[in-house]
Amino acid sequence: MIEYPKTFKVSGRAPSKKEMQWLNNWIINQNFKDNLNILEFGCGISTYIIANSVPSYEKYVCVENFKPCLKTVNAHVKNITFIRDTWHNIPKLPYDIVFIDASSCTPPEIIAEVKKTSPKCSVYRSEIIPYVWDFVSLDCFFIIHDWKHRPAWVKPRKLFEKMNHKLIDCIRTKHGIGIYQKGRIN
Ligand SMILES: C[S@@+](CC[C@H](N)C(=O)[O-])C[C@H]1O[C@@H](n2cnc3c(N)ncnc32)[C@H](O)[C@@H]1O
Repeated sequence: MIEYPKTFKVSGRAPSKKEMQWLNNWIINQNFKDNLNILEFGCGISTYIIANSVPSYEKYVCVENFKPCLKTVNAHVKNITFIRDTWHNIPKLPYDIVFIDASSCTPPEIIAEVKKTSPKCSVYRSEIIPYVWDFVSLDCFFIIHDWKHRPAWVKPRKLFEKMNHKLIDCIRTKHGIGIYQKGRIN
């Protein structure tokens, strides 16, 4: 069973412990290689769990600008690179895992473009996928939290379905986590 450090300030918006336990087990069962490159949108207890379930990581990049999340992750997880301003500053690496649970630091021109067709849109999670697509590894796993909850948040799932991508695995909790792989088409 996973344990959270007592000092970790878990956000009320974090994935549930059941979801984190499932993700921890899923990662362990993959037998990932060492020295992974990981990119995470929306850090918190998810960072702690992912960092501790992979064999090792070369680079772990978190895109986040919410100070309490940054502070508690920084205090509990070693060797994280934080991107606090814009996606444009994400190092262009062949990431093995992309975890999506937020859309902070979306570049203003992407927001403006989306608003042309969806004026009320305030969540840009699905825009992350085409943004990172060309530099992530050929077999990169996309781990999508809120995979089945709330219309704006399930857009990444719809995008993978539209691209005919196979659902690799999922947990059907209220919010859900779904996993897709770049090269795995139905
Ligand atoms: C779903 S949360 C991400 C949760 C993260 N993966 C975790 O494990 O805690 C999405 C975003 O909401 C923001 N957030 C988190 N806690 C918040 C709070 N208490 N109030 C306002 N925004 C918050 C952060 O920017 C975070 O990345």
